[in-house]
Amino acid sequence: IPVENIRNFSIIAHVDHGKSTLADRLLEMAGAIDKNCGRSQVLDKLQVERERGITVKAQSASLIYNVDGTDYMLNLIDTPGHVDFSNEVSRSLSACQGVILLVDANQGVQAQTVANFYMAFTKELVIIPVLNKIDLKNANPEAITDQLKNIFGIEENEVLKISAKLGTGVDAVLRAIVERIPPPPVNRDKPFRALLFDSWYDRYRGAVSLLYVVDGKVQMGDMISSALSGKLYEVKGLGILTPQETPVECLVAGQVGFMFCNMRSSQEAHIGDTIFHEGNPVAILPEFKASQPMVFAGVYPVDQSHHVELRNAIERLVLNDSAVTSSVESSPALGLGWRLGFLGILHLEVFSQRLLQEFNAEVVVTAPSVTYKATVIGEKNIKKYRSSEISFSNPSQFPDPQIVSEYFEPFVLGTIISPDKYLGPIMQLCMDRRGIQKSMQNIDNHTVMMQFILPLNEIVIDFHDTLKSVSSGYASFDYEEYGYFESKLVKLVILLNGIPVDELSAVVHSSKASIVGHKICAKLKELIPRQMVLIAIQAAVGGKIVARETLKPYRKDVTAKLYGGDVTRRKKLLKQQAEGKKKMRMLANINVPKDIFIDVLKRN
Ligand code: GTP
Repeated sequence: IPVENIRNFSIIAHVDHGKSTLADRLLEMAGAIDKNCGRSQVLDKLQVERERGITVKAQSASLIYNVDGTDYMLNLIDTPGHVDFSNEVSRSLSACQGVILLVDANQGVQAQTVANFYMAFTKELVIIPVLNKIDLKNANPEAITDQLKNIFGIEENEVLKISAKLGTGVDAVLRAIVERIPPPPVNRDKPFRALLFDSWYDRYRGAVSLLYVVDGKVQMGDMISSALSGKLYEVKGLGILTPQETPVECLVAGQVGFMFCNMRSSQEAHIGDTIFHEGNPVAILPEFKASQPMVFAGVYPVDQSHHVELRNAIERLVLNDSAVTSSVESSPALGLGWRLGFLGILHLEVFSQRLLQEFNAEVVVTAPSVTYKATVIGEKNIKKYRSSEISFSNPSQFPDPQIVSEYFEPFVLGTIISPDKYLGPIMQLCMDRRGIQKSMQNIDNHTVMMQFILPLNEIVIDFHDTLKSVSSGYASFDYEEYGYFESKLVKLVILLNGIPVDELSAVVHSSKASIVGHKICAKLKELIPRQMVLIAIQAAVGGKIVARETLKPYRKDVTAKLYGGDVTRRKKLLKQQAEGKKKMRMLANINVPKDIFIDVLKRN
């Protein structure tokens, strides 16, 4: 296929606006899937992923579409939908010349639509605005077209209106891809050069990479080199995804396809790397900004005897998800474990869910924390920390205020879009979370878009859930990094019967120490089951108690009421109680449920 007939594009959309449905429809219309086989969401290969033990994070599909007698190869590059993965979206877009900006004609523009639009816009990609779900009774394409005009300056005549579900108008989308998006700006006569824009780990083949070939071509058996590591590899497999893996002999400039060579781990398949022929170095393609973990949490086996199994499971998952960072950590109460870094809270949840589902590994996850910074004073202390600026993400490493001149915490720029009738509660929520309003704009008669600067630690746990609940589910939220600023931080120490429990302690803004302290103590009183002894729950800052609750003793004998009688029932109850105990941890000689560390921080 000549370069002029190749189109590389991606669909970007807010969650649930119909990206997978449209992708299926495009594949179906281009004959890649049989309409009658009834499979939907072909690109969501999660089931396949699990069976084969691989992760396909961003999956592409190549389809052939005929316009006026000419065959075009359309390469659809899938992007993940959630805010936590915006770096992956950005990467995938580097292989594209255009995007379909898909917007639900009923819901309208949402926070993620805005973030995605600007990502495509700054990359100077052609943007094809498409309104989906026009078959819905409440769809209002005219109003949403107005929104597109008000926010992005998109003209009415550029907007396509479709129903991905019914197939209405999808033909026009395919045509627009061919007519509006330019062919990739590549050169087939130059030496081979390709961008590695995604990779995943496969048990049998090692790292499998997705390549966008920018110049020349690559063939089976070629010796290739990585610009980043300088390592050499032999090409063992090449192919395109249709979306099934279809082997090919060579990939030529303009194409998107997969490759595997003798790379053992995904770390070797470095995303953003430039690949070229051995001994034929080329100019390096612009590298992506590596994803920086924003949220850290300790992960421990529920039972230390499962330490080795958990280590294997974590290693395997980290191999598949290069955005997760890991280091060894230990805690007096929880034993040996790991401190893992994630892109966001959803990323963390997905990870621990996968540990459970794919490896049957039950874990204790400690309260997530962001990375703080501090400036240390005094020559002795600077020497001890080897620098005057230190970073820490674990509250137990909070440096003593006496040796610190300033603390810093990370902020984000958040975008919220909502019907204006929820403006009051949303403003209140943002203020409660120490937010500072940056802008507000009406995007139509009853919808507003607001921007706030918010401390990351105020949004990691439950901001999104709370925002949804104060807006009856209508408000949407997205954020980007905004940098570090000075902040009055303190360590809120939690004590159980006078013993400080580092695992429950938190770093908070001084203005919030007392409020958060009261909430944590009340929450702990609710979460800790009554025990044989009285338990004093206290919160303290710098030795001063700021909150206190008391949990009265209680003797729990589950069989007490069953005099004589039914032995099997008695046994069953005792067994249940024993099962329950397994899910408990000892903290300061007190039994607590294993999920306490996260539950305690949820505010509602
Ligand atoms: P994520 O993968 O979660 O980001 O969602 P998505 O954007 O891929 O959305 P998906 O294709 O899963 O569609 C979300 C829901 O909208 C599904 O229930 C679809 O059946 C429905 N849907 C998609 N397109 C249409 C449409 O044209 N009309 C109607 N009525 N429903 C649609």
